[in-house]
Amino acid sequence: MFKILSSLSLALLFVFSCNVPTKSKTYQNGVVITAHYLASDVGNQILKDGGNAFDAAIAVQFALAVAYPRAGNVAGGGFAVIRTAKGDYNSLDFRETAPKAAFEQMYLDENGEVNPDLSQKGHLAVGVPGTVDGMVKLHQKYGKIDWKALLAPAIKMARNGVALSWLEANKLNDYREQIKNQNRGKDTNPYVRENLFIEGDTLHNIALARVLLRIKENGRNGFYEGETANLILTEMEKNGGIITAEDLQDYQSIWRKPLIGEYREHKIISMPPPSSGGVALLQLLSGAEQYKMNELAFGSYEHIHLMVELERRVYADRATWLGDPDCCKVPTSDLIDNEYLKDRFSDISMTAKTNSQDVKAGCVEVIESFETTHFSIADSEGNAIAVTTTLNGNYGSKVVVEGGGFFLNNEMDDFSSKPGFPNQFGLVGGEANAIEPGKRMLSSMTPTIVEKNGNLFMVLGSPGGSTIITSVFQNIVNAIDFKMQPQEAVDAPRFHSQWLPDEVYVEKALLSKEVFEKLNLLGHQIKKQSKIGMMANISTTTNGTYIGVPDTLRHADSKAAGY
Ligand code: GLY
Repeated sequence: MFKILSSLSLALLFVFSCNVPTKSKTYQNGVVITAHYLASDVGNQILKDGGNAFDAAIAVQFALAVAYPRAGNVAGGGFAVIRTAKGDYNSLDFRETAPKAAFEQMYLDENGEVNPDLSQKGHLAVGVPGTVDGMVKLHQKYGKIDWKALLAPAIKMARNGVALSWLEANKLNDYREQIKNQNRGKDTNPYVRENLFIEGDTLHNIALARVLLRIKENGRNGFYEGETANLILTEMEKNGGIITAEDLQDYQSIWRKPLIGEYREHKIISMPPPSSGGVALLQLLSGAEQYKMNELAFGSYEHIHLMVELERRVYADRATWLGDPDCCKVPTSDLIDNEYLKDRFSDISMTAKTNSQDVKAGCVEVIESFETTHFSIADSEGNAIAVTTTLNGNYGSKVVVEGGGFFLNNEMDDFSSKPGFPNQFGLVGGEANAIEPGKRMLSSMTPTIVEKNGNLFMVLGSPGGSTIITSVFQNIVNAIDFKMQPQEAVDAPRFHSQWLPDEVYVEKALLSKEVFEKLNLLGHQIKKQSKIGMMANISTTTNGTYIGVPDTLRHADSKAAGY
């Protein structure tokens, strides 16, 4: 079920097996970590120019839409978790919504079977984009410098061109046929050209520069109304899409009260529904505390077994109970209640594995794509923001808006296409996440901020679909329970399990032969994975400086830029 990033596998196996150390740096004033070095530099420059972390986040979001088009976006969505220098918390939901014409059976064929091509590719897969409204709201509430200055770097990049890294050239080549298929008869430049891309090729995107210019001049109206909206609507009308002018005009991102929990004298601030991330993370941490994770050794079979058993139960809850709180009853506070969790985890045995089928019958997990991106930013005033943003799949629906130069998301695939029945992966989804007009699809994105003694301790998050939650969980446990330094905590090999399928995915470097055999004896099905997650972790030192740790072991283009 996990897509292997083939172009990365060999490099990663080499890196892990050679155990090459990566070096984190310390910054006095501020730091920006993103999946693309150009976007990190843009954010850092905004900080140096007097912008705060929130200004930098906006500039980064738009820069990623140009430099990292597989996940950076103007026509996707995401979530942001915020801690201001004053110690206030907030979270912003700019998740896409189902168009008004969407309906529960829209991806079923005449035999009532799910047609996954419809929810994953092309115009019907597209949710109403939330990114631009989200960035406008973020700026209205927290921005310090002029909106126009935040769009300028991305416009310049799109106009002057971005030189492709080796990773980005290969990624575009990998998706070349899919992009061509979804854009027949259209000019797909700059994403597909006559020849395959090589490192150093320059992508100019004048159409996207114009879109960004309209957003710069007109704010949300530069996207949801006027020329850009018309380009999206023409794209829909010509190709059987269902997003209307009213869908675009009515889209609103939402400020939500973040989920806050305690973990061994740390405060965890994370994303509430419609992301499952915060709920699942707090549940997992509660289980880790209950079973005294801090007394186990990292990488031991007890460590892995316990985490997997916790994850089995938490992902079963996720699939059964979580969805858009504005459309269905989501029992968030019950799910993170300590008494409930004590009971929920009480049947974990350290000497035997539970079978996932015995954990809970009925509704189960919806598989999500890995292709999302996360960035973490902290500034000289002490503001911090963790943003996870996505088109869902790599290059989303693969549809490039003609005359717009940007990809549309395929976020509709995060709904359960057919509640209670298996999808293409042999999995089924819960009723709480069924398609309804205007509803937000369930997410796993887990932008998170951690405090210790009232001070900022960590800003973190990751892409990776359902593995986002477990990657964030492991990073926190590595730092707090295993007392790893920030670099070590990010570099440490990861593993993942999610109830169904009843398997454990491990990065190759994790298991010794002895641990592998012990886990096998307990009944765990182990599958090797080339990489899990891509962390962007800012940690603080006791003297108030920031340590920036990008996940360069797993993604060479990621970068911390600070001063
Ligand atoms: N599309 C991935 C997620 O929202 O979790």
